[in-house]
Amino acid sequence: MSQPIAFIDLQAQRRRLGAPLETAIRTAVEGGQWILGPQVAQLERDLAAWAGVKHAITCANGTDALLLVLKAWGVGPGDAVFVPAFTFAATAEVVALAGAAPVFVDVLPDSFNMDPASLEAAIALVRKAGKLIPKVVMPVDLFGQPADYRALAPIAAREGLKLFCDTAQGFGGLLDGKRAGAIGDAAATSFFPAKPLGCYGDGGAMFTNDDGLKDLLLSLRMHGQGADRYEHVHVGYNSRLDTIQAAILIEKLKIFEDEIEKRGRVAKRYNDALAGSDRVSVPVVIAGATSTWAQYTLKVENRAKFLADLKQAGVPTAVYYPIPLSRQKAYAHYPSAPIPVSEALSGQVVSLPMHPYLDEASQGRIIAAALASLG
Ligand SMILES: Cc1ncc(COP(=O)(O)O)c(C=O)c1O
Repeated sequence: MSQPIAFIDLQAQRRRLGAPLETAIRTAVEGGQWILGPQVAQLERDLAAWAGVKHAITCANGTDALLLVLKAWGVGPGDAVFVPAFTFAATAEVVALAGAAPVFVDVLPDSFNMDPASLEAAIALVRKAGKLIPKVVMPVDLFGQPADYRALAPIAAREGLKLFCDTAQGFGGLLDGKRAGAIGDAAATSFFPAKPLGCYGDGGAMFTNDDGLKDLLLSLRMHGQGADRYEHVHVGYNSRLDTIQAAILIEKLKIFEDEIEKRGRVAKRYNDALAGSDRVSVPVVIAGATSTWAQYTLKVENRAKFLADLKQAGVPTAVYYPIPLSRQKAYAHYPSAPIPVSEALSGQVVSLPMHPYLDEASQGRIIAAALASLG
């Protein structure tokens, strides 16, 4: 009987990290500063240096990281924030939580990321309707690859909009030598365990080169604190990263670059084996970009059969995302550009097991099962 295949194998990573990880956790526990202990500040320095950005500010999760930046910019009722229709719900959720309107933009069929032409159409639609004021463009680095900021950034600049990168899945990827995290007016990531850089619980971080924004985010994550602990200058949040999680992330960041490379090798093996089949499209990374391969996502013709065949063969799969956000009950009343690509993708995408420690034998079994299903 062959070994079961994991969709993501976090225990393999834990074994690799070994004693230094256990020591880091124990040190954090014994240190007794469980909230905003010294490991949190160290992690923030490490993250900023690693990503090549001036400031990294950690918080409780990726959703808060997105929300805090929008709140810091004063985004609220009457404002429009442009988000892709094909992403995880949190991207649009935070806009609505801030009291603003998410405006849905279609994505590109190959990279799955925000379509610059659709963004322009969505901005024109909002300006013409005259009810909302365009404020922020919020592309997502879906499945690990940076959105096409070469095209998106000039549109945001021309229209006078902030560029805010939801890099919850893409932190650490590269575009023209620049890390996702260091791109845009600000960026936000998630340390949810399944993310390429994840902790052992919830966590998140915000990135910016703007000193004023950094100060405001530090205050907002700590109940709007002023110069003193019990002075409150903003209505804020309780959104801090636990010291234990920071200690874990410090260790994980040391091997992150190597893990991104390993993920790239796994993706290449899939691409080489599957690209020949005309019933499947392998994922495309845009020129000049490196993906962190948060997911390895195919487009298949007959998805129901493919999912059933792989299940039968003992291969776990996942569908990200089965319903575009503008078709979800919670978001259907917000404005949207036409989203034909997001609609098509939601019926075609399938993600295969992806993690840095996927060995060739297991991957061979996954590829064989996929090829057998595709005929
Ligand atoms: C694109 C995207 N944005 C935001 C989030 C929210 O992150 P978190 O789960 O840490 O709140 C996630 C993660 O689930 C995500 O995939």
